[in-house]
Amino acid sequence: MNTSKQVNVMIGFLFLSFIAFGAYYAWEPSREAAATEEQMTTFAARGATLFVANCRTCHGLEGKGPEEGGVGPALNTPAFLLLDKDNAFGLPPTPVGEVTQIETFLTNTIACGRVNTFMPVWSQEHGGALQTIQIEYIVSLITQGRWDLVARIGHEHDEELGINAEEVVVKDLSALSVTTNNCGQYSSATASALRSRDPFAAPGAATPPPATTAAPTTSAPVEGAIPIQIGEFFVRNGTSAPAGEVGFAVTNEGAILHNLRVVRSDLAADALPVAGGQVDENAVDVKLRIDDIAGGETKGGQADLEGGSYVLICNIPGHYQLGMYASFTVQ
Ligand code: HEC
Repeated sequence: MNTSKQVNVMIGFLFLSFIAFGAYYAWEPSREAAATEEQMTTFAARGATLFVANCRTCHGLEGKGPEEGGVGPALNTPAFLLLDKDNAFGLPPTPVGEVTQIETFLTNTIACGRVNTFMPVWSQEHGGALQTIQIEYIVSLITQGRWDLVARIGHEHDEELGINAEEVVVKDLSALSVTTNNCGQYSSATASALRSRDPFAAPGAATPPPATTAAPTTSAPVEGAIPIQIGEFFVRNGTSAPAGEVGFAVTNEGAILHNLRVVRSDLAADALPVAGGQVDENAVDVKLRIDDIAGGETKGGQADLEGGSYVLICNIPGHYQLGMYASFTVQ
């Protein structure tokens, strides 16, 4: 090979390597995106495996909570969905502050459980069964909303172990115990504020109100209203009222969120039909509902009641079984 040919070959190689580099640089960002996406899916899949093994009993086979007979709330909810910059909805990504808020809320709730409820402590640091990284995987699953993975992995898991899916969700609440130790739990009021979050709302509008703004309110209890005291875990009341328009002034003397239902029933106060960890409101005659009564708060309501037997209950999952009922008579 003479010198000029050698030079030509070298120029040729140089040219080729330029093309190769160019192609590599053009390809690199999409390769990175693909790698990130793959990692996100891996995390969600690990989270799904952990969810199947530990959480389905109370939060339902696909995380839908009460809808699937679970005593725990739905975690399969848009309120916990975080949108990344290439989200399938074509929406702007969730603002960083909001991402941190939701991730912290989920991480801490799972780590510490929730005191005075059936939600157990999970962090090994506090005597639970999961490592920090495992809790991160579950949070990744929930915020990505990959419930398809939970359904698939759950199905495989049950098939392999010969488990009947219908028996996964706990029905006998007496088998559960209430979380008593406190390692910095969120109050139910903060939880319900965060749960009303809408990830699809216009930016700025999506930030859930801080729980501190949930100052005790009194929705004008009717004059002559019957005072009712509720708390962990009791309902105390004036036991009777004359027929007609009956007002209730319900004070939550406890620390966590409760509600009140006035149910017309001839059944014993502790014998109302239960489904999914709570009194089945479709199977009883509910005359009045007062929702979201935070600790320390008094809320009022009134209903036209005819003579007969009634039961006053809190119908947050598990609370009725823990003793939040009292009978009430209208003459
Ligand atoms: C023994 C039943 C039970 C098990 C098992 C359980 N939970 Fe819960 N969980 C609950 C209950 C009940 C609540 C609601 C507590 C309350 O009333 O505020 C809850 C609340 C939560 C919340 C807060 C939701 C909200 O909207 O406030 C998260 C997050 C959560 N659980 C995650 C998990 C994860 C993850 C697992 C599995 C590692 C799990 N839970 C296992 C019963 C359970």
